[in-house]
Order: sequence, then C-alpha cells, then structure tokens
Amino acid sequence: MRELLNLADYRAAARGRLPASVFAYISGGSGNELAMRDNAAVLARMAIVPRALIDCRHGHTRVDLLGQTFASPLLLAPVAAQGLVHAEGELATARGGGALDVPMVLSCMASQPMETVLAEHGGSCWLQVYWQGSRARTLEVVRRAEAAGFAALVLTVDTPVNGLRLRELRAGFAMPADAAAVNLPAHAARALDVPAGGSRIFQGVMRSAPTWDDVAWLRQQTRLPLVLKGLLAVQDVLRAAALGADGVVLSNHGGRALERAPAPIRMLAAARAAVGDVLPLLIDGGFTTGAQVFMALALGARAVLIGRPQVYALAVAGDAGVARMLRILRDELELTMALAGCATLADITADSLLSLASAGMDA
Ligand SMILES: Cc1cc2nc3c(=O)[nH]c(=O)nc-3n(C[C@H](O)[C@H](O)[C@H](O)COP(=O)(O)O)c2cc1C
Repeated sequence: MRELLNLADYRAAARGRLPASVFAYISGGSGNELAMRDNAAVLARMAIVPRALIDCRHGHTRVDLLGQTFASPLLLAPVAAQGLVHAEGELATARGGGALDVPMVLSCMASQPMETVLAEHGGSCWLQVYWQGSRARTLEVVRRAEAAGFAALVLTVDTPVNGLRLRELRAGFAMPADAAAVNLPAHAARALDVPAGGSRIFQGVMRSAPTWDDVAWLRQQTRLPLVLKGLLAVQDVLRAAALGADGVVLSNHGGRALERAPAPIRMLAAARAAVGDVLPLLIDGGFTTGAQVFMALALGARAVLIGRPQVYALAVAGDAGVARMLRILRDELELTMALAGCATLADITADSLLSLASAGMDA
C-alpha cells in the first residue's frame, strides 16, 4: 500500500483488481456522465492563494457537526452494496472510518446489518434512508436505526427514479444476491404495476416517491437529527431549513442522478448566502484531494462526504485501505491549510480562492 500516495492511485489500483462490470457500476454516472464530469471539472478550475508567515502552531482540523466534534471535516458517504468489492463490505469500511474518527453515513442498501456496522465503527454513524414507498415502511427503518444508536438520519431525495447508468449497462453489471440490501423490510421492493396507458416513470416509479409533506411528517416522527441529501436548488435548501432539517448535503449523487445536474460546488456559495451560518451545509461529488476539501470549506461547506474513493480503498486493502485513504485526505487538508495560512477550519474563507477561469489560466 505504501506506493499508493493519493486517491487517484487507489482508483487505479481498484480498477486493476475489480471485475470490469463492478468497476463500471461504481465509477459510472448517468447518461453521458456530464454531471459526473462537471464535479471534477469545476474543482479543477479553482486555485488557492498561499499566505506567508502565519502562526499555525495551534492548528487542527476539528469540526463540530450535529452536536458532536470530529477530528476532520470528512464523512464517508453512503455507498450501497459494499459486499461487491470486499468480503466484509461495510464492516471493514466502518473500522477504517472509526480508526480516523470519521463518521460513516451507512447506506440503507448496505450488505451488512446496521447494528454490526455501528459496533465495528465504534463511534458516530448516521443512517442514510431511501423512502420505502410508504410512511409505515420508512418508519420501520427509522425505528431500527434509532434503536441501534445511529446519531442521525440522512434522507436521500435526489433519486426517486434512478439515472440511466449506461456504463454499467454496457458492461453487463447485475447486482449479485450476496450484496443485497439486508436492512430493508422484505416488502419494500418497488412494484411497477403501471396502469394501462400510464407512464413507467410518472404512474410507475414516481408513485411511491416522497414529497415535501412526507419530509415534514418524518421530521415529526423522530428526535434524531434529520439531514436531507441530494438538494442543489437554493429554494430546496431554504425549504429544508424551514421544515426543520438539521443539515443538507448538496449533492448530485456523484453524477448518477440527473445527467445535467450542476456540480454541487457551483451551488454552494448561493446556498450558504441564502440560509446564513446556522444550517450545516455538507457537500459531495468528485472530491479526491484535501485541497478540494479546503475549497468546499472556503465556499461555506461544513464538511465533505467521500463516495467512490472509499469503495476503491476498500477494494484495495479493506479497513486499512479506508483508514489510509482518509488519512491521506486529512494530511493533504492539513498541508493545504498550513500553506494557505489557515490554522483552523474557521480561518478558511473564500478570500483564499481564485477562479482559474477568471485569472485566464483555465486548462
Ligand atoms: C456505487 C455507488 C453507490 C451509491 N449508493 C448510494 C446509496 O445507497 N445512498 C445514497 O444516498 N447515495 C449513494 N451514492 C451516492 C454517494 O453517497 C455520493 O453522493 C457520491 O458518490 C459522491 O460522489 P463521489 O463518488 O464523486 O465522491 C452511491 C454512489 C456510488 C458511486
């Protein structure tokens, strides 16, 4: 593992190890992958202005999030079916996250029992929930998460219908039975009995999709902090705040939902300006270096979720791979902070950023 020096190295190593169809499932985006490419492209067009001679001896990367303090502004994003790439799946990811005090947002589509994952992590985990087609079924999952001791719920709202992921279709990917979602009620499978003449999307899948009324209802059902994942429009972020959400993850689902969704980082400053300082805005999509995490913080994010790189690291070296991947990101963030003259996350502001396009340096 010593020769793997950054997250791109982990991706390359995972690509060499995983069956081509599994790599296509993980690495792909929807349609022509415009949203996925935008995630990386926008991050590539920003520079960080170094600052000299600033005393950073009291520096650290600690962050306060939903009433807890964590070692760094990083979270493991919910990624389904990790049994696909490693025999222990989410159990190993959890140990890797726990070792670095990085909260794991466990996907409700996980291939390991949520209680065991939480125990393996040993710290704070949040449960990501997809709407289960009805309030009663969704509540079953929520109650189980509460009983297990998850610290927050993350309701993902950006994929009531899945994007068309051409890469995995072309590679012939099919989810194997042993990577199936073990935490969901058996009856939750989506029925697709479309009435004659109806649309497979509108009268089919979207019939069991949640609405804002359901989110307001869910807010009343649980005392756990509730985070909405997958918002981009400023109006939606404001609405989430008004409904009493405790946080929002700006996300385009890693470019796997709406093909032409903007990179979340494009929406960040406007969302931050609209909701003010109180509501934590988290973000994901394309983050592979600590310098990029720095840029998100500078634009108003409280923390960054890491999606695909966790799966690549898991595939390459299990729990140790995940821990090392997170350590690399944190080290890169610390290095960036030191060179940009920011001793703590509170010192990171948009003043540090320069748009390469406006500086005439666009590559
Ligand atoms: C293979 C894969 C599975 C995913 N599964 C879920 C999921 O179960 N729930 C969810 O909310 N998001 C899921 N996501 C989206 C991630 O949580 C996250 O938003 C996205 O991967 C971030 O982009 P990045 O991969 O570029 O870091 C998945 C993403 C990938 C690549």
